[in-house]
Amino acid sequence: IKNIAVLTSGGDSPGMNAAIRAVIRAGIYHGANMFGVRRGYDGLVNGEIIPMDAKSVANIIQRGGTILKTARSEEFKSIEGRKQAYENIKKLGINGLVVIGGDGTFTGASKFIEEFDIPIVGIPGTIDNDLAGTDFTIGYDTAINTVVDAVDKIRDTAESHDRLFVVEVMGRDSGLIALRSGISTGAEAVLIPELTVDYQAIMKRLDQTRKNKSSRIIIVAEGDNEGGLVVAEKIKESFPHYDVRVSILGHIQRGGKPSCMDRVLASRLGVASVEGLLEGRRGEMAGLICGQIQFTPFGKAIKHIDKINDNLTRIVEILSL
Ligand code: F6P
Repeated sequence: IKNIAVLTSGGDSPGMNAAIRAVIRAGIYHGANMFGVRRGYDGLVNGEIIPMDAKSVANIIQRGGTILKTARSEEFKSIEGRKQAYENIKKLGINGLVVIGGDGTFTGASKFIEEFDIPIVGIPGTIDNDLAGTDFTIGYDTAINTVVDAVDKIRDTAESHDRLFVVEVMGRDSGLIALRSGISTGAEAVLIPELTVDYQAIMKRLDQTRKNKSSRIIIVAEGDNEGGLVVAEKIKESFPHYDVRVSILGHIQRGGKPSCMDRVLASRLGVASVEGLLEGRRGEMAGLICGQIQFTPFGKAIKHIDKINDNLTRIVEILSL
């Protein structure tokens, strides 16, 4: 493999730039010609592919977002789109791809490999942490720290007014942002899409926790069917005397400077992905499990069901007394 291209796809996440930098520089280190694809798979289809050198990724390790831009490509979902993408990379002699993103990114990559036999290695980049084969995805640490910072501030005002706040956080199908940020902000309850919401249990818990609490925080993952506003209404029905407010944190969770942990993770996985490609890997995601680099087939990486661990949900309950 002599010519490698890198792209970011799906929702952006802090640390994607650090990963792009690592891929480009690791490729150059190993003697490859490097390219960047703009706007994810859309850029492959439309031929937005640019040569990149070591300088082109200078001064980006600390920046949120992605300098390559990202997209959720509709065109790449069709065989015609993928064929066009293949023609474009063939023209440039690109014979290896590194894709940074989440489940949609790896699903697209799997199809592309199947149909056109392109070597592709993936890097997990999503704030949701909803991929198997890595303890953490790039951007998750920064996102949960953003949530913790925001909820700490909300706690100050909740405390001053004796209020209950329902805080809705991101995580399309995953409660992992909600769970860890809930534990670290001392939330009274955390509602996640992986578990059916037992309103009775939540009301009972609110009823049983200390009556003299002056603030209460309920964290709701957006993926949960009902969302923060509905949860707040239900709480108001059961506890009309609570002064309830809702705060939806939204896309602030996707931006900002990546944390040190995300920069190091991105740097390690960036190097591993290129070295994996050069060793002949394809259709696999580079991840970090217990501090060690591991490669997981895309098909397995997108099944993240085991990541919600009972210990985390129990801790919220035990500590909210
Ligand atoms: O996958 C990351 C994520 O931030 C999810 O948590 C969220 O549901 C989704 O992206 C929102 O995506 P967008 O607003 O970019 O369509």
